[in-house]
Amino acid sequence: MGLKLEYKEGQTPLDEEEKEGLKIKSISTLGELDEFEQLNIEKAVEWTIHSKLKRERILTENFVKDLHKKMFGDVWKWAGQFRKSNKNIGIDWTQISIELKTLIDDVKYWIDNKTFSPEEISIRFKHRIVAIHCFPNGNGRHSRILADIVMESIFGLEIFTWNQSNMVEADDTRKKYIVALRKADQGDITALIKFANN
Ligand SMILES: Nc1ncnc2c1ncn2[C@@H]1O[C@H](COP(=O)(O)OP(=O)(O)OP(=O)(O)O)[C@@H](O)[C@H]1O
Ligand SMILES: [Mg+2]
Repeated sequence: MGLKLEYKEGQTPLDEEEKEGLKIKSISTLGELDEFEQLNIEKAVEWTIHSKLKRERILTENFVKDLHKKMFGDVWKWAGQFRKSNKNIGIDWTQISIELKTLIDDVKYWIDNKTFSPEEISIRFKHRIVAIHCFPNGNGRHSRILADIVMESIFGLEIFTWNQSNMVEADDTRKKYIVALRKADQGDITALIKFANN
């Protein structure tokens, strides 16, 4: 397997089994991998726009998986399937389904009771789902698109701007993003909302 990947801060390394799930055998660098994934994600975004998603469908485990599969299914065999090993980020893999169910129920409750503003609900959802870390990889990008889908398809509002970045580069924007995530881990969600709105 000729793929030598370097990892940016806050990224989850892939294990050998996961690397073997690469569908496009000609990919040999992280740059090429980023490009193929980005193309796949753009297709997925088109799909979300055309499929007129409704709240009942979005707030389900099936949709969480379907979205990941749409985003990464051209590149990775394990796209859309929950992790079967532990990572440096995320909960014990055996608890993923149950924790996701709790999160989805919380999100429904927040929406029904207007516990937080639409943008705070979307970003709290994003933060909690990436902390669960459902998938072997792609959790960050998946969580950001999910937040956008909640804003657009559930609340009928504009999607986030995310510092006009896809965070693929390990630059200052990514550093700001990781700092904001750490603050959210400490219970302060405002920095992540601000980051998403910039
Ligand atoms: N300290 C942290 N607390 C919470 N979440 C973190 C922390 N560090 C990293 N993360 C999350 O993990 C994600 C990276 O996970 P993963 O590699 O599965 O996703 P990705 O989509 O490949 O990465 P990226 O976010 O670069 O697009 C980051 O986007 C971030 O959301
Ligand atoms: Mg990654």
